Amino acid sequence: MDGKNAIVTGGARGIGYAIAKRFLIDGARVVVADVDEKAGEAACEELSALGDVRFVAADVAERLDVRNLVANALDAFGDIDVLVNNAGTSHKADFLELKETDFDRVMGVNLKGVFLCGQSVARHMVDKIEKGGDPGCIINISSINAVVGIPDQVAYTASKGGVVQLTRVMALALAQYGIRVNAIGPGSIMTDMLKAVVTDREARERVLSRTPLGRIGEPEEIAGIAAFLASKDAGYVTGQTVYADGGRLPLNYTVPPNDN
Ligand SMILES: NC(=O)c1ccc[n+]([C@@H]2O[C@H](COP(=O)([O-])OP(=O)(O)OC[C@H]3O[C@@H](n4cnc5c(N)ncnc54)[C@H](O)[C@@H]3O)[C@@H](O)[C@H]2O)c1
Repeated sequence: MDGKNAIVTGGARGIGYAIAKRFLIDGARVVVADVDEKAGEAACEELSALGDVRFVAADVAERLDVRNLVANALDAFGDIDVLVNNAGTSHKADFLELKETDFDRVMGVNLKGVFLCGQSVARHMVDKIEKGGDPGCIINISSINAVVGIPDQVAYTASKGGVVQLTRVMALALAQYGIRVNAIGPGSIMTDMLKAVVTDREARERVLSRTPLGRIGEPEEIAGIAAFLASKDAGYVTGQTVYADGGRLPLNYTVPPNDN
């Protein structure tokens, strides 16, 4: 990724942080965007030893924040080659009790945020291509919950299914410019988001009983896929979702958890 310029949303921690780190190690310049200013600044401070990384505070569900994010990234680096739509949130509630505001908030970040950032960056990319520049690529972070569901994660599950379809339609719409759009669908990855769910041994065993590889994934294992999808090696891949889930999606029934 030498000389490439990337935006990673939700890059202050977890999977987004690991992707920003991997891109920097691979030679890219990175804008980390996050709604959590303090964590975003701290992350960029840590990552700055690896390369040119800037923080921009942005709520991806807000059109004006997204416009400001793209303008700041262009100001800083003059170009955007790779966008990773990683920012995400969840809300646990029984379907019968879920409030409209909570449904809207999760859909706003997880699905509308991908649309807003994707459209804004794609407009820049198309403009650049029309002036003779190289096409870039977009990577959206979905989830295995695009395929299977969690009954008390109503909006989260629906939003992640939406991200897979949005990825397909963006890929089709932007193929004429050579812009590739793909998604990654992680299973259970050890981040703050998962820690909120896997709070005790019993919860961990429940997760592992549906994970044939017998362990929870690491954020770096998602970052590696993002690096591949952003690379020339993935030059003929578009509209796809790569599921990295330790074997959960193919599994019927459960596996006995091991003691690790
Ligand atoms: N951890 C998992 O097991 C797992 C599994 C499947 C999919 N995912 C997806 O991976 C992505 C990253 O998840 P994670 O586990 O690293 O979560 P995380 O909670 O550790 O990090 C998410 C980051 O996104 C930021 N964010 C939240 N709302 C935002 C907004 N409106 N605008 C900008 N930034 C915002 C948060 O401040 C945080 O820094 C999410 O899209 C999540 O749905 C995670």
